[in-house]
Amino acid sequence: PASAALAPGGDIAVARVSLAELAERYGTPAYVLDEDEVRARARAWRRALPDAEIVYAAKAFLCRAIVDWMEQEGLGLDVCSAGELEPAATRGLPPERIVLHGNAKSPQDLRTALRLGVGRVVIDSACETARLAAQVQGPDTQQVMVRVLPGIEAGAHPKIRTGADGQKFGLSLADGSAEDTIARVLGRPRLELVGLHCHLGSQITEPGPYAEAVRRLVAFLAGLRDRYGVTLPELDLGGGFAVAYLPGDPAPTPTEYGRLITGTLASACAEHGLPVPRLTVEPGRSVIAPAGIALYRVLAVKRSAGRVFVAVDGGMSDNPRPALYGARYTVRRVGRASDAPMRAATVVGRHCEAGDVLAESVELPEDIRPGDVLAVPAAGAYQVSMASGYNMTGRPPVVAVSGGRSRLLVRRESFEDLRARDVGL
Ligand code: LLP
Repeated sequence: PASAALAPGGDIAVARVSLAELAERYGTPAYVLDEDEVRARARAWRRALPDAEIVYAAKAFLCRAIVDWMEQEGLGLDVCSAGELEPAATRGLPPERIVLHGNAKSPQDLRTALRLGVGRVVIDSACETARLAAQVQGPDTQQVMVRVLPGIEAGAHPKIRTGADGQKFGLSLADGSAEDTIARVLGRPRLELVGLHCHLGSQITEPGPYAEAVRRLVAFLAGLRDRYGVTLPELDLGGGFAVAYLPGDPAPTPTEYGRLITGTLASACAEHGLPVPRLTVEPGRSVIAPAGIALYRVLAVKRSAGRVFVAVDGGMSDNPRPALYGARYTVRRVGRASDAPMRAATVVGRHCEAGDVLAESVELPEDIRPGDVLAVPAAGAYQVSMASGYNMTGRPPVVAVSGGRSRLLVRRESFEDLRARDVGL
């Protein structure tokens, strides 16, 4: 994070807290979040798009403290399950600042959203229209958006590209399925259609695809006005804004994304004679990934078949991203300085798969040994939130640091926690 500083003795301090001390105090593996950096990143989005709704994508990482930080920084939340709604609902975040997504919302998801009064439900299929309308009570109406597929390929890996035709989300602009669903929504008096939604993909390293999405969506809005006489007042462009995992990775700022998006929106609306809709964006990774650090302890070091393996006490159960997307990371030793030269090593996890590799060919000191602490930066998004129970190692804790202090946000999953669900005897 921005506040990381190299301290004497090879240690790194974040928010004036030593990472080596955190590893000692909270055990490893552990995830550290720099609270001030999360807040600063949230504020950067607020400032970049002052007239827009900024909703943090909870799937990147959520706990109750995060809800508070987002609420205090003027953001809302993007959730995609009743489980993600629950922490939001218990923390006093105004429900109108919540957007509910999902290509397969469960009855519980919809019930919870309606009970809490979430601001927007994003409809992802025609069959959802009737189901949602039937649940809206009495004189109320529910504001909804329809998720469309603008037909744009963007995102760092095929598994996280969601804007092109042929994948499971949304409805195609090209084949009429979006328009068909919109017509159904317009025929439901309990549903108030306020806009279109799209989410192009994730880890999108340039603003260009967003501008293209804006042009296609605005042209479609103009078509809806002409054919149905409706002028939809909102446009939600989803998330997907990239962060740097390796030095030199492209990562435009919120201002850079925001400038092109708002500029394109204004000119496209002028071209079609439409009022400029209110914009929503849903950044997840770009708010939280750079503020997180994963800490591990080395359990084994060996040389085999010409390679040096450094095995740590976590792995694909706390960070499945390398195995799923070929994601790459840097790794640093913390807490022990030495003059040893650097050499290439492969940092692997403790799980029972050859694919359990956290970082291929990273430079680590030659005297690395069991007990050393390793830090992996840019670890705040889609790691703890995608952590699994594989090999029953227990999911890691999350610790917040700020102003020289640390506090536990999420405790480590204990053997008692695991045993508590095993009720079959
Ligand atoms: N809005 C919607 C509707 C989404 O589906 C997502 C992410 C976001 C916003 C936030 O996207 P972000 O700004 O964080 O890129 N597990 C993958 C990423 C999957 C993203 C899924 N949807 C990874 O670790 O790279």
